[in-house]
Amino acid sequence: MRIAATLKTAYSNALIWNYQSLKQKTASSTQKRYAKNHMLVLGIESSCDETGVALYDTQHGLLAHALHSQIDMHAAYGGVVPELASRDHIRRAIPLTQQVLQQANKTLQAIEGIAYTQGPGLAGALLVGTSIAQSLAMALGVPCVGVHHLEGHLLAPLLEEDPPAFPFVALLVSGGHSQLMRIDGIGQYQLLGDTLDDAAGEAFDKTAKLLGLGYPGGPALAQLAQQGRARFQLPRPLLNSPDLNFSFSGLKTAVLTLVNQQSTLDITTMQDIAWEFQEAVTDILTKKCLKALKQTKLKRLVVSGGVGANRRLRERLNLETAVRGLSVSYPRLEFCTDNGAMIAFAGAMRLKDMQPQVSDYSFNVRPRWDLAELQSPK
Ligand code: KG4
Ligand code: ZN
Repeated sequence: MRIAATLKTAYSNALIWNYQSLKQKTASSTQKRYAKNHMLVLGIESSCDETGVALYDTQHGLLAHALHSQIDMHAAYGGVVPELASRDHIRRAIPLTQQVLQQANKTLQAIEGIAYTQGPGLAGALLVGTSIAQSLAMALGVPCVGVHHLEGHLLAPLLEEDPPAFPFVALLVSGGHSQLMRIDGIGQYQLLGDTLDDAAGEAFDKTAKLLGLGYPGGPALAQLAQQGRARFQLPRPLLNSPDLNFSFSGLKTAVLTLVNQQSTLDITTMQDIAWEFQEAVTDILTKKCLKALKQTKLKRLVVSGGVGANRRLRERLNLETAVRGLSVSYPRLEFCTDNGAMIAFAGAMRLKDMQPQVSDYSFNVRPRWDLAELQSPK
């Protein structure tokens, strides 16, 4: 019922806006031709607690991007409240779209394709972005494509200057995923290793909560760790296992035990626990990345997802790859966490290679969606 209300508002907001733009537009009932070599794509991300919108031009690159984070709104509840997230996406998506169009000095009519996050994520939140994207596409007569959120993260490093060439090994470390993959091209993803329990970001968040830090805890814990030093010893689960899998839930439990053993949890103790926790996660991620590169005989590593913003992880990966003659690339910090640019980019890569077809603009969202189900667009 609530989702239905959310959807209705999002849909009618977009339609009212579109109706106004349609008055200036002719020939709206037929889809624009696919411009294979040149396409301006609008991307909308709304899978969780950030509304991200961006304009990507397949010839000139990223033209504009804008983000609204809901962190302050959810902080009072200690985590994301799905219904509040959906309502906020409704408020933000269209103003952010207007903002990027203005930044890029483009009109709505210049948009030639629209990409939106179809999943995985919160159903209500996904429905907001999806319904706005689909209704805009319908009004403009342009193609619309649903993007896998993780594909967005995976391809985010390709938005940078001097992007890594395929094939490469990707480490995807976000709040919900910790995966190692072999990437041979768009849609050609082979899973090499996965987490058996908590994701790396989830471990950061849960450990931060244990230490009384706010939500989301990852960046706060990383900041605390900067002042810490080697004093405690935490386990490194699966560090030496022959596979490329991860397990982080034991580490979180070990932190809980350590915290309970302390007579007082003063700031220095907290900093030292945070330091050791970050070292443990970094040791594990670094070792498994090197193992994946060795196993695949590939020379390039690409890191993406929120934990990819971690400074210590970047330091370690930079060092360990450099001494072995390997390379590592990351998205800029703001594109490690959720954003519209990665969705516009991944959507553009798919749209430019898809066969033209008339869409009926019906849609669904995929709150659970395995990346392995994705196909190459070609
Ligand atoms: O990729 P992302 O924005 O959202 C998901 O798709 O999950 O990742 C968010 C995760 C959170 O768990 C957050 O705590 C973590 O990334 N994170 C960090 C840092 N920045 C964000 N973890 C460690 N160090 C950071 N600097
Ligand atoms: Zn994400």
